[in-house]
Amino acid sequence: MNVVAIILAAGKGTRMKSRMPKVLHGICGKPMLEHVIGAAVGAGISRNIVVIGHGADTVRESVKLDVDWVEQTEQLGTGHAVMQAERLLSDFTGSILVLCGDTPLISSDTLQRLLQKHKESGNSVSVLTADVGDPSGYGRIIRGDDGAVTGIVEHRDASEDQLKINEINTGIYCFAAKELFTALQTISPANAQGEYYLTDVIAVIASNGGRTGAVKVEDALETMGINDRVQLAAAETLMRRKILTAHMTAGVTIIDPDNTYIGSEVIIGCDSVVYPGTVMEGKCCFGENCILGPYSRLTDVKAGNALTVQNSVISDATTGNGVTIGPFSYIRPGTVLGDNVKVGDFVEIKNSVVENGSKVPHLSYVGDAHIGERVNIGAGTITCNYDGTEKWQTRIGNNAFIGSNTNLVAPVTVGENAIIGAGSTVTKNVPGGALCIERAKQKVYPDWTTRKNKKK
Ligand code: UD1
Ligand code: CA
Repeated sequence: MNVVAIILAAGKGTRMKSRMPKVLHGICGKPMLEHVIGAAVGAGISRNIVVIGHGADTVRESVKLDVDWVEQTEQLGTGHAVMQAERLLSDFTGSILVLCGDTPLISSDTLQRLLQKHKESGNSVSVLTADVGDPSGYGRIIRGDDGAVTGIVEHRDASEDQLKINEINTGIYCFAAKELFTALQTISPANAQGEYYLTDVIAVIASNGGRTGAVKVEDALETMGINDRVQLAAAETLMRRKILTAHMTAGVTIIDPDNTYIGSEVIIGCDSVVYPGTVMEGKCCFGENCILGPYSRLTDVKAGNALTVQNSVISDATTGNGVTIGPFSYIRPGTVLGDNVKVGDFVEIKNSVVENGSKVPHLSYVGDAHIGERVNIGAGTITCNYDGTEKWQTRIGNNAFIGSNTNLVAPVTVGENAIIGAGSTVTKNVPGGALCIERAKQKVYPDWTTRKNKKK
């Protein structure tokens, strides 16, 4: 079936009380609008037209997905919003799926089911509806004696009797393109809100003799609209549970799902264990048998198997297999750790490569460095990468041993198998195999304290 989606996202979202457009508010680490676009793409729709208005530039800049943008400069209603997309679809004769940018929980499965039923029925319009306990605020589905949908009445325009209907309009529909745009030409803003309602199109199509139908959503929570920050948090909780359940079903142990936060684009290998207080954001990918957390923030991490992380913050970094990090480490962007690398407590690493089997066990800063294989970095070692103006590189060869409390003043190179004595400030390159000690000679005065006491 030839389907194009039109996603309505031009509204202000007044009740969010935000300077940011509503559809950019995040759920599980991703703007609401991206979830909706993702659901459409997941349902097999390759062309998505997004109608933007309020904060249009910000929305366009923030959402880096392959969509067509259309601007609705004045927000005159949902029907008016759909009209803005017409000029992009003048020759289009397929089906149009209309979605709202503020229903981020909608699933691809539900959209696929709607499209499938729409196709089978030969309807001119199929409305996705839901039976809800409290229908207030939503448009009500009006059916004729034969059960066919004859129209939708908005809450503010509904009669006493119509308000009792608890089958509501989810704001998601599938239309035959030609019938949609023909019907849109006839709607008027003569209603309680003075807007061009998309919902009025249903009655127009019905009275023109078009077939109208409804498809009920299986889980009404999927179509929950987000209008304020209370609903935003509720949606976050629902989506978070869904994500956690998917990981658990796929073989990941999550010790305490109430205290674990995994973004929608995170991949975790089987038999990994996630401890409480762990936040995973962005495009993270962990291998099998990892132990993640407790109390760690992991953003855009690509890790091999058997990574162990405790009480640490890692962002935009890559690790091999068998790496241990923490407790209390900070791994910053551009860090690449090879297999079996150990990063211990109170270590900060930035924009550096640490090759297989090397260790940075305690209290170090490694920045703009390349550390070879099987290198040991003693406690308190600092790469002095910044001279106040520019950043410089430190290079350490395989099997080198850097004594504790060494300052490596970059640019500087320590060759393979070299040894740096503890407490050295290294400003010149050290050749491979050399011993380098840079510190004042130790002086020892025997019996110093006894002699001092005698003088008294
Ligand atoms: C709409 C439906 C209602 C349905 C409900 C489901 C209409 C008239 N009503 O009501 O039947 O039960 O959704 O959540 O359609 N938008 C624009 N331009 C505009 C106006 C709105 O792009 O001029 C966008 C909004 O950004 C939003 C979506 O359309 O994403 C829905 O608009 P909203 O004002 O939230 O409609 P509801 O009152 O919720
Ligand atoms: Ca809404």
